[in-house]
Amino acid sequence: MPTIQEQIDQQDLSLFKTIESQSSEDDRRSFMALNSAFRQWKGGKFTFLEIGSFKGGSLQSYVADPGCTKIISIDPRPKFVPDAREKGGDYSHVTTQIMLDLLAKVPGADVKKVIPIEKGTESLKPADLPFKPDFCFIDGEHTDTAMLRDARFCLNAMGPDSAMAFHDGDIIYLGLDTLIHELEASGREFRAYNLPSSVFVIEFGKCRLSQTEPMRSWRDQNYKGYLYALVRNDVFRTTAREYWRIAEHPAFKLPHKLGLVKVAKKIMGGGKKKK
Ligand SMILES: C[S@@+](CC[C@H](N)C(=O)[O-])C[C@H]1O[C@@H](n2cnc3c(N)ncnc32)[C@H](O)[C@@H]1O
Repeated sequence: MPTIQEQIDQQDLSLFKTIESQSSEDDRRSFMALNSAFRQWKGGKFTFLEIGSFKGGSLQSYVADPGCTKIISIDPRPKFVPDAREKGGDYSHVTTQIMLDLLAKVPGADVKKVIPIEKGTESLKPADLPFKPDFCFIDGEHTDTAMLRDARFCLNAMGPDSAMAFHDGDIIYLGLDTLIHELEASGREFRAYNLPSSVFVIEFGKCRLSQTEPMRSWRDQNYKGYLYALVRNDVFRTTAREYWRIAEHPAFKLPHKLGLVKVAKKIMGGGKKKK
């Protein structure tokens, strides 16, 4: 019978069967590759911070791994959570206590090491945290503004040799782009890459997660993440194509000439860059 750490190192998906996670199977393989790499890189023990936990799905390997000694789970559980794709969601029906009860059911879990904080980074300072996390995972509000706020918070909360990872990079990509430009301008040493399906990783300072297995081999398969992101966003290209097809229809020639299309776009806020 393999130990939990061996299961994580083998990216055994059965470790994620207790709680439904809002992630693909490849995302879960990435969570375990990161978990394993962090433990190995830190010499056996590390601390973890997650922003956006919901039912605790993405915490399952961390709560069971004795190498992960402490976990902070930041989640204010608001009634409405905005989303860069326009459709917001309501996650508030899952309380912190429900998450802790679910996590307790994960085989080998030590829920005592989980410190939940029911506030967002908009009302927290890094000094409010009970410890400096080695590794931060960001999966809270999926807008570029919130993701940037969370990333800047984590940058100030972590030590110099650390890493952060983001879920759903294909949704918050404008925020990631801004963050990367800020890091380049700051002169801070970093390396960024994506993992399948949609996990964007940034290592800082001396942190090197790809030197050990399974991360080394798993990172070689990052083409899967590239294709996943393009395919997942293809709905927007399809919609744009349809929009252009309709806009160029002869029936719209006169409204175009009269400037009515411009007026309609103005009323609907078209062309404005949303953050
Ligand atoms: C996509 S779910 C997280 C899924 C979870 N990580 C998993 O893999 O199962 C997003 C979570 O972010 C939380 N959230 C919303 N606004 C937030 C904020 N400002 N800061 C942190 N978390 C937030 C929501 O309450 C929700 O639980």
